[in-house]
Amino acid sequence: KALAPAQTPLAGQHVLVTSGPTHEPIDPVRYIANRSSGAQGTAIAAALLALGARVTFVTGPAEVSPPAGADIVRVETAAQMRAAVQAALPADAAVFAAAVADWHVDGAGASKIKKVAGQIPQLHLRENPDILAEVGHMTQGRPTLVVGFAAETDDVITHATAKRLRKGADWIVANDVRPETGIMGGAENEVTLITESGTETLPRMSKTDVAAALARRIATVLTKDDA
Ligand code: CTP
Ligand code: CA
Repeated sequence: KALAPAQTPLAGQHVLVTSGPTHEPIDPVRYIANRSSGAQGTAIAAALLALGARVTFVTGPAEVSPPAGADIVRVETAAQMRAAVQAALPADAAVFAAAVADWHVDGAGASKIKKVAGQIPQLHLRENPDILAEVGHMTQGRPTLVVGFAAETDDVITHATAKRLRKGADWIVANDVRPETGIMGGAENEVTLITESGTETLPRMSKTDVAAALARRIATVLTKDDA
């Protein structure tokens, strides 16, 4: 492989990024969602693009516009996100920043649920596929580097460390999303990077700067054998 210029260490590398929330329909007019804005995933994709990577950006219905220059795949549900991720592989690295719904509504149909006085509908939920875990545990064609996120409100490091192992991820980017931190939906983030060799807490900074720091570390791993 030709040596990439120092400014674009990820030239020739394909990185897959998932971002944003998913929406799980209840009926044609209602859905279950979450508070992910897509800001951190979008910033990571932009930082990877800036380092020269080809980026496939699989995004749920986010508030933030997707990054210019990425191959953008728009999805709504977790099932659609899984299919888009499988279609985008192979990749040299995969970053799972999406806030994927854990459940979908079983039997969500084409008809609007009508309000009937005194009758409360019961939603039956079924578990969604864990997209990160599926890729993390791939035995053939697994990306060299699989990065997951863990947004937690309690025992952040304990939960995130367990997630790294359970999902077969190389890295977990953990953060504390209790409302009082202002991180969910805010411009700043404070993350701890959990790897096989331990934990590293980065200072609180803009989501753009967190993205740049992560992209630089990803480039270090992906270019290790190139020298
Ligand atoms: N993830 C995924 N597919 C899912 C659920 C989660 O790919 N169905 C990914 C997220 O993109 C994130 C990581 O897994 O990178 C952790 O997501 P999180 O919701 O924190 O983990 P869960 O295992 O769902 O645990 P919980 O919601 O109970 O904390
Ligand atoms: Ca979850």
